Amino acid sequence: MLVSPGLEHVTVNKPFTLSVAPMMDWTDRHCRYFHRLITRHAWLYTEMVTTGALLHGDVARHLDHDPAEHPLALQIGGSEPADLAKAAQWGERWGYREINLNCGCPSERVQRGAFGACLMAEPALVADGIKAMQDAVDVPISVKHRIGLDGDDSTAMVTDFVGQLHTAGCRKFIVHARNAWLKGLSPKQNREVPPLRYEVVHRLKQNFSDAEFIVNGGIQTMADMDARAVGVDGIMVGRAAYHNPWVLSHWDGWLAALQHPSAGHAPDALLHAPADSEASRDEVEFAMVEYMADPKRSGGAHWYSVARHILGLRHGLPGARLWRQVWSDHRLKDRPVMDVYRLAQAALQRHALV
Ligand SMILES: Cc1cc2nc3c(=O)[nH]c(=O)nc-3n(C[C@H](O)[C@H](O)[C@H](O)COP(=O)(O)O)c2cc1C
Repeated sequence: MLVSPGLEHVTVNKPFTLSVAPMMDWTDRHCRYFHRLITRHAWLYTEMVTTGALLHGDVARHLDHDPAEHPLALQIGGSEPADLAKAAQWGERWGYREINLNCGCPSERVQRGAFGACLMAEPALVADGIKAMQDAVDVPISVKHRIGLDGDDSTAMVTDFVGQLHTAGCRKFIVHARNAWLKGLSPKQNREVPPLRYEVVHRLKQNFSDAEFIVNGGIQTMADMDARAVGVDGIMVGRAAYHNPWVLSHWDGWLAALQHPSAGHAPDALLHAPADSEASRDEVEFAMVEYMADPKRSGGAHWYSVARHILGLRHGLPGARLWRQVWSDHRLKDRPVMDVYRLAQAALQRHALV
């Protein structure tokens, strides 16, 4: 087990939360259903949904989800306080347990809409948005943001930003511990090039100690989680959870060990199977096959658009490549999902024989 027993001897803030990051095109309802089969206690976040999409689009298409996905938060993109309030109301009505405002996305499309990371330069407007949402709904409002903009390495901006939102009543901040560069870097580069400065998150927590601070950015392994847990109230993981979802099978046991150090690391996932056994990966795969085969559960999605999320399930295991090739083979699109499942299993068995 990767979880460090050393954690028993350090003071970690409680309650402590683990969450999977909002990721556009990735953390759709199917992906979240899949992640929930592997971890029961992690918070899951939707992809960003813009206020425009909720106010003028098909609300059900954006907000429908399976009750099994909870605890679940809706991430909103927008800046107009009245629109944010209406979008938050839709979210609450649809059963989301937290509404999160995106103040961290640096994409040009989002900048053209004047929201995302560029809102860090407009703390008064964001504070008005927070107040409007808090007046409109009972569920908590959180903000996801960066630690600064462009080449400005001082912490004055982020401290003022958090300070104004804190005064407005916000008590949960998810901090991607990098600056966002609004010019010159693509969104992908913006997740890799600006250096990670976790110490800025620690300082924010010290300055606003009654608020919850969740650290995000570059956390991949359980050892990274051990290292990042101190001085914050939670950890959010994005890409590593998507590409290697089995890492989530350690999370419930890790959380249990934080809450009750003497109880050890007993895994508490839905499947009650040893966290790193292959048998339990098989069970998760089969549960997803049942999900894909049941239009009532999957909202009628084609299996192919669901299966893309499970491709990392056997990451690092023998036969994973052949198995993945079956599940991502577009020539099989017209075949029933059960046939594809059998082919994927056969690929694993073939690999085991050679
Ligand atoms: C494909 C992709 C899409 C993303 N979409 C969003 C988004 O909709 N909202 C958001 O706040 N962050 C988004 N992010 C950023 C992640 O939430 C996270 O902050 C970032 O990936 C850093 O965490 P990581 O190093 O654990 O991946 C996205 C990241 C990726 C890789």
